[in-house]
Amino acid sequence: MESSIITQVQKEDSQLPSKTGLVNQSSPKKPRSRNIFKALFCCLRAQDAPQPPPPAQDTLLPPEDNGTIDKLDLLQNLRYQFHQVPGTSLLPEVTPQDEGKICVVIDLDETLVHSSFKPISNADFIVPVEIEGTTHQVYVLKRPHVDQFLQRMGELFECVLFTASLAKYADPVTDLLDQCGVFGTRLFRESCVFHQGCYVKDLSRLGRQLNKTLILDNSPASYIFHPENAVPVVSWFDDLEDTELLSLLPVFEELSEADDVYAKLQQLRAP
Ligand SMILES: *[C@@H]1O[C@H](CO)[C@@H](O)[C@H](O)[C@H]1NC(C)=O
Ligand SMILES: *[C@@H]1O[C@H](CO)[C@@H](O)[C@H](O)[C@H]1NC(C)=O
Repeated sequence: MESSIITQVQKEDSQLPSKTGLVNQSSPKKPRSRNIFKALFCCLRAQDAPQPPPPAQDTLLPPEDNGTIDKLDLLQNLRYQFHQVPGTSLLPEVTPQDEGKICVVIDLDETLVHSSFKPISNADFIVPVEIEGTTHQVYVLKRPHVDQFLQRMGELFECVLFTASLAKYADPVTDLLDQCGVFGTRLFRESCVFHQGCYVKDLSRLGRQLNKTLILDNSPASYIFHPENAVPVVSWFDDLEDTELLSLLPVFEELSEADDVYAKLQQLRAP
């Protein structure tokens, strides 16, 4: 099976301690044997990755146009316009019920659920996914306390599901997971930027104020453009005793009242 429809971190990578964790993390477990479906993992090692293309914003500028307009001003201006033109942002306009709320971008795999093609007896969902004409079953485990977590997050924030996995897998999983409709918008792989072999979630493309935006993701590569907006979370695979999502709720309760997420996150990170 060569299609990598699910974007997952490798278990070994997930054992790296997070420098900026906001929640005390339990000691890392021994790495387990590598998943046989290596093709699922689409995040290549950086040194194997093709050279990144030049930053997109540079190509918006004529090469020598720094005569009368300062280049940076022009860039800011282009960025501003880009985000103001309707239809160019990843997110639709804020709904009246989410007005004034902070926007939280939430990852799916290893943050809220863990999925695999290997049959497991205790799967919460089994989702058929068609790959190249053949239907495969994907076995999905919900992270402990995910229902309570999502329900509260929906009350506190404008919640956006943002996954680097393919919609044909992630959309039906989210239908099953998000029974209460907490996620106003779902973004999939095509909304990511492919950068140095990884799918990056570029928060500046959302169409929200960055100082009112948070990202909850187990993979630091996902928020490499905006590490200062991140609430790191330990990767989850199958530990049924995991309480990470519960421990994060008080953190998010505090963040939900922030005027500026940067200041608040800095406060929370301070020892
Ligand atoms: C234009 O940029 C070049 C280098 O990129 C610089 O040497 C030059 O001074 C700049 N011109 C103006 C008018 O800012
Ligand atoms: C947040 O950013 C916006 C610009 O995107 C700025 O106008 C606003 O003053 C900032 N708010 C705070 C509290 O820094």
